[in-house]
Amino acid sequence: ALEAREAAAHAPTLEALRHLLERFEGCPLKHTATRLVFADGNPKARLMLVGEAPGREEDIEGKPFVGRSGKLLDRMLAAIGIDRESAYIANVVPWRPPGNRTPTPQETAICLPFIRRQIELADPDVLVCLGGPSAQTLLGIREGITKARGRWMEYDTGTRTIPAMATFHPAYLLRTPLGKRMAWRDLLAIESRLTQPTAR
Ligand code: URA
Repeated sequence: ALEAREAAAHAPTLEALRHLLERFEGCPLKHTATRLVFADGNPKARLMLVGEAPGREEDIEGKPFVGRSGKLLDRMLAAIGIDRESAYIANVVPWRPPGNRTPTPQETAICLPFIRRQIELADPDVLVCLGGPSAQTLLGIREGITKARGRWMEYDTGTRTIPAMATFHPAYLLRTPLGKRMAWRDLLAIESRLTQPTAR
């Protein structure tokens, strides 16, 4: 994890960070995954979304949120006028865990410096954590996602504070459609935040 931290801290651009990850040998998930899933969308977008880890389709295509969850995510974002050119999308862990299991705390810890650097370099105006594991890792929530969702929090990059919100993961909404009403409320809050000018 120390090695990762030092490597990530030295990446001056997102492209450099991606290349560092391509060469990084410190995470065991890399050896079972097909490829690195770094990001999709527009790194200049004001909105950044961070999920948990790639699934099977993502591992094949090398892009986050292209499977069933991704299709739902696209529809959720379209409802507030956002497409992949107006969002930047990544995951806490950039390699698929075997069988889509949740990444272990150790795997997450190894990957954390990279996603933190990725957020810092993308420098969005609004950060959205999709699902409990992402919100625990990046926002330090301790309660469940049902309690933590929908609340504005602050994400500290180390150099700047970014307004952040946790909401349900689209995979959860596919299993639990009753959560959609709450997710919709979160989307409206995100939309309204994005229409406000940001003080820098
Ligand atoms: N679930 C995630 O958290 N990320 C993906 O990229 C796909 C599914």
